[in-house]
Formats: sequence, C-alpha cells, structure tokens
Amino acid sequence: MANNLLKGKKGIIFGALNSNSIAWKVAERAYEEGAEFVLSNAPIALRMGEINELAQATGSEIIPADATSIEDLTVLFDKTIEKFGKIDFILHSIGMSVNVRKGIHYTESNHEYYMKAMDVSAISFHKVMKVAMEKDAMNEWGSILALSYIAAQRVFPDYNDMADAKSLLESITRSFGYHFGERKKVRVNTISQSPTATTAGSGVKGFDGFISYAEEMSPLGNASALACADYCISMFSDLTKYVTMQNLFHDGGFSFTGVSRSVMDKFEKGYN
Ligand SMILES: NC(=O)c1ccc[n+]([C@@H]2O[C@H](COP(=O)([O-])OP(=O)(O)OC[C@H]3O[C@@H](n4cnc5c(N)ncnc54)[C@H](O)[C@@H]3O)[C@@H](O)[C@H]2O)c1
Repeated sequence: MANNLLKGKKGIIFGALNSNSIAWKVAERAYEEGAEFVLSNAPIALRMGEINELAQATGSEIIPADATSIEDLTVLFDKTIEKFGKIDFILHSIGMSVNVRKGIHYTESNHEYYMKAMDVSAISFHKVMKVAMEKDAMNEWGSILALSYIAAQRVFPDYNDMADAKSLLESITRSFGYHFGERKKVRVNTISQSPTATTAGSGVKGFDGFISYAEEMSPLGNASALACADYCISMFSDLTKYVTMQNLFHDGGFSFTGVSRSVMDKFEKGYN
C-alpha cells in the first residue's frame, strides 16, 4: 500500500545484505513511497552481489562504505550530495559481533573483538552523523534512524556483547539527537525491533527458541521485517516531525509484558 509518504525525499540506506535484511525491506518500501536513495554496505558484503538486484528494482546507486571508516563515509556523503544535494533520511541498519560469531561467552569476551563490535554496531552511527553534520548533508526536519534490540535494557544472556553495543547505540542516539535537533532540526531515533530471521539475527545462539519465546510473550506476536520497514517509513515521513532522541519499541508489546497467558499455561500444566 503506497501513499507517497516519502515523495521527493532523498536518503541513504545502510545494511541491505540480502532479501531477509530489514534494510532491504525498508529500501523496497521507501521506493514504493516515492523516495530516491543511495544503497550502501561494507565492500566485503557487496562482493556477494545480491544488492545489485535491489539497486535495479529501486533505481538506486550503490556506494560502498565500511561504516567504521570516516574516509569511506566522507566519499559516500560527497557522492550522495553531488547526486541529490541535501538529503532527508538515513537508515543505519548495521550490526556485527565477532564474539557472537565465534560463540565466545560474554564473560570470556576477546576485547579486540569487543571493541570491533562497539565500533561496527554503535560508534559507526556516531561516525555517520558526524560526517553528515560536517558536510551539512541533512535538510531541516530530516530523520535519522538506527535499529536496536531490547537487550540494551534487559539481559538476554546469549545476545553477548551486542547488548552493550545496543546500549551505546541508544545513548549515542540521545546525545547526537540533542545536538542535531538544536543545530539542524534533524531528528534521531532508534527502533527496537522484535527478533527477526535475518543473517545477523540468526547468528545469535539459540535464535530459534528465542524467536518462538518472543512470539509467545508478545500480545501481537513478533513484528516482521516488513512491519519494521513500515515503521521506518513513518519515521522518515513528515507525520513524525517532533519525535526525536527516542528508543521506539516495535515488538508487538513484548517490552511491557511481564508474562503472557500462553507462557503461564506451560508452567501451570505441571501443577494441575
Ligand atoms: N534480526 C534481528 O533479530 C534484529 C532485532 C533487532 C535489531 N536488529 C538490528 O537490525 C540491524 C540490521 O540487521 P538485520 O537483522 O537486518 O541483519 P543483516 O545481517 O541483514 O544486516 C546487517 C548488516 O550490517 C552490515 N555491516 C556489517 N559490518 C559493516 C560495516 N563495517 N560497515 C557497513 N555495514 C556493515 C552487513 O553487511 C549487513 O548488511 C542491526 O543493527 C541489527 O542488530 C536485528
């Protein structure tokens, strides 16, 4: 269902790896809503080539950038400004932890990997906004979003050092959001999404059990990647101009549910 919500808006979408990626769905929805954008991902991710399909379907240019590299980000913003002039939205849909990938327990984290997780999954958001601000790349009332997870607030043991990265990401959102709002009237938020079957999501140990548990604990059930994309579109639109510095739960009610009937049923069975 397209409503031209992003008609005339331009942006950058980071993190579309394959058709399961949340960023992929956001790109498809943004295109349907009339936006024009540049797709960006780490050079190594682009080598897999799947993103070419998305670029073709949405008439977008692909500009590689390792989001931890100020040099790469500078080239990306220069080229984007050259193409579009100032832009209206940015999606940061980037996450990676080597400790998670290698199955290293949180208490035994390799700190080099730990720093890498912070850099890729959180500090890169600061870097993106720093370059965007320096280049004066954003139009007034523009909207910048990153994707988070509730492990930033509550313990999910297997989420590992990504929990710390998400806490930092949400803190950067508030801090940078203050300055971007005051100086440029740009809003900055995170969307805290339900567990979703993507390459990054499925890398977390015990993901299958975890996604089923969240489904049963959420009165509306887990939010899909497509539903997340819809929420991103609304946050990029002019209908949410005064929302900034927030972490917005998009999780079917999981975050405020103490326990659900169906989970209770599993425990009560034993006592009847
Ligand atoms: N899948 C879930 O369950 C879930 C839940 C909540 C939040 N999120 C968040 O959503 C975001 C998108 O993840 P996804 O689930 O769509 O998985 P995904 O694996 O499809 O996307 C992760 C992306 O990060 C990119 N990336 C990694 N290192 C990079 C770097 N150095 N520079 C630039 N890009 C880099 C990858 O190439 C990939 O495109 C992440 O921030 C993730 O933590 C995911």
